[in-house]
Amino acid sequence: MKTTTTEFGTVCVGATEELFAELTSFGVGAWLAAERGRFAWALAGGSTPKAWYRWCVERGALPERLLAEAHWFVSDERGVPLASEESNFGSAARLLLDPLGAPVERRHPWPVDGSPDAAVAALGQDLTAVVGPGRCFSLCLLGLGDDAHTASLFPGSPLLGAATGAGFAAIKVHGKGWRFTVTPTGLASCGHLVIAALGPGKAEAVRRVFCGSEPLLAVPAKVFRVIGPRTTWLLDPAAAAACPQFLA
Ligand code: 6PG
Repeated sequence: MKTTTTEFGTVCVGATEELFAELTSFGVGAWLAAERGRFAWALAGGSTPKAWYRWCVERGALPERLLAEAHWFVSDERGVPLASEESNFGSAARLLLDPLGAPVERRHPWPVDGSPDAAVAALGQDLTAVVGPGRCFSLCLLGLGDDAHTASLFPGSPLLGAATGAGFAAIKVHGKGWRFTVTPTGLASCGHLVIAALGPGKAEAVRRVFCGSEPLLAVPAKVFRVIGPRTTWLLDPAAAAACPQFLA
């Protein structure tokens, strides 16, 4: 696996199998480093996290003690019921947490059926009860959209302008309805961040983050600049193809 240090974090390029094993090791390492009972792992929406969930289940890759102890969240959510295919937590539950038997009382979906503000407050309280005040997720897994969004921080989002403020927000996104998301402040308070992106469809977004000159507002995944030392990118060669400096 080729590893490069950048201002946006450490970039690891390798085969899918290597990247998924690395992501699993990150999870195990972060769990071992956390105070017992205070490990909060935020999963994510998107095709790459889903592929990793299936990989984990097929291999039984997560230790049973981690599965018993971890508290599970998602970085961001859509305003749909858990049963919907569109639900990020619902997908994580169906593809990872149910098959591996993660305890239901340690699952913390966004409570999206009430008012958006109440959902944000409730998720924040839930997380604080696990990790303590002033902290966000111990480990936050994220995807990268083709338009260079991450979590539910889309190009032009007013949330990108706020370097301080609450760690979570609800926002109505044009054409997408309500989104519930960790904010740049929340990301900056996470223990570690891992962005996983696979396939040629991500190459242009990766190029715009690492090799382009557009501002954060146009390329939301540039948000990781301020959190670089605690951020790791897991890319396959197709996703990294437009940044030759990352390829072996
Ligand atoms: C969401 C996700 C989002 C996702 C990216 C990548 O709910 O929209 O949290 O940030 O991770 O859009 O998704 P794909 O891998 O499917 O392109």
